[in-house]
Amino acid sequence: MDKSFLRAMAKQAEAEHAATPDPYASPNLKTTPSGYLLYSSFLANQFVYDDLKFVDFPAIVYDVLTPNLSPPTSPPTSTSTSTITIHQDKKQGKGGLVWCASFILGEYISTTIEFSPSLSSSPLNILELGSGTGLASIYLSAFLETSQIHSSITTTDLPSLLPLLEQNVAANRHESKFSTLTPSILSWGVDDGNFSPDSFDYIIGADIVTSLYDPIALASTIHTLANASTKVYISFKGREQVYHDKFEAAMNGKFVESTVELMGDEGFGGRNRNPGVGILFFTGKI
Ligand SMILES: C[S@@+](CC[C@H](N)C(=O)[O-])C[C@H]1O[C@@H](n2cnc3c(N)ncnc32)[C@H](O)[C@@H]1O
Repeated sequence: MDKSFLRAMAKQAEAEHAATPDPYASPNLKTTPSGYLLYSSFLANQFVYDDLKFVDFPAIVYDVLTPNLSPPTSPPTSTSTSTITIHQDKKQGKGGLVWCASFILGEYISTTIEFSPSLSSSPLNILELGSGTGLASIYLSAFLETSQIHSSITTTDLPSLLPLLEQNVAANRHESKFSTLTPSILSWGVDDGNFSPDSFDYIIGADIVTSLYDPIALASTIHTLANASTKVYISFKGREQVYHDKFEAAMNGKFVESTVELMGDEGFGGRNRNPGVGILFFTGKI
């Protein structure tokens, strides 16, 4: 389907939802004794889609959907959950907060890609760019660990975000037999050379195409670090079209295949119904 048509539909859906009453004043949101938001209580009452709704919570507790592998020999048939806790730091600006696109990306990848438990000694190699709090990487790592899939995830951002990334990775590090998660610095277009190109099976990013950041440097880093079969998943929140156009034009010249899928009511039926979020997919590095 045409990308601008999909985006027009998303904008219309968002405008309709925005007209509904604000549920944040309602007592529906539940917290832990430490004041951490239980995200499930937000999802149960989701009416509006303002990404800034969570800024005043010091941390958010997410349920990660995972296949039920017990007993280990049976095929995954149902889901069980594990939880992750993501701390925020408002002082760090946008990167210090969690964004809907990040939760949606973690859930989308873990529920739509068919990962099979690997017997091979080489783990799936995954790189996240512009990770902010690290939510998408941490979600995916928890999913892959419970799914018993060997994986190595590198979660990256600018130097100023590294302490928060490290804090969140440490807070969610449990016994890990299958999935390793490593926080690191990667500034797009600047220190790509610190990472070995060609080695990533997946390159992912959530809400990293906006007016604030350089879409050309981002596309260049993705291209440098991808190989011919790398799959690139970038979730976005449709805001200013011009930056998406610049990013997609740059990516379309570097990858053979590209698709876009909308989330929410019109597309992938994830738990967060934010209609303004979509996922760009690229593969086939030129
Ligand atoms: C809107 S935040 C999204 C954070 C997180 N992915 C999420 O969705 O919750 C965008 C992130 O991109 C990062 N970023 C912006 N420009 C960057 C650059 N040149 N190199 C690396 N990261 C960058 C920011 O530091 C910030 O963490």
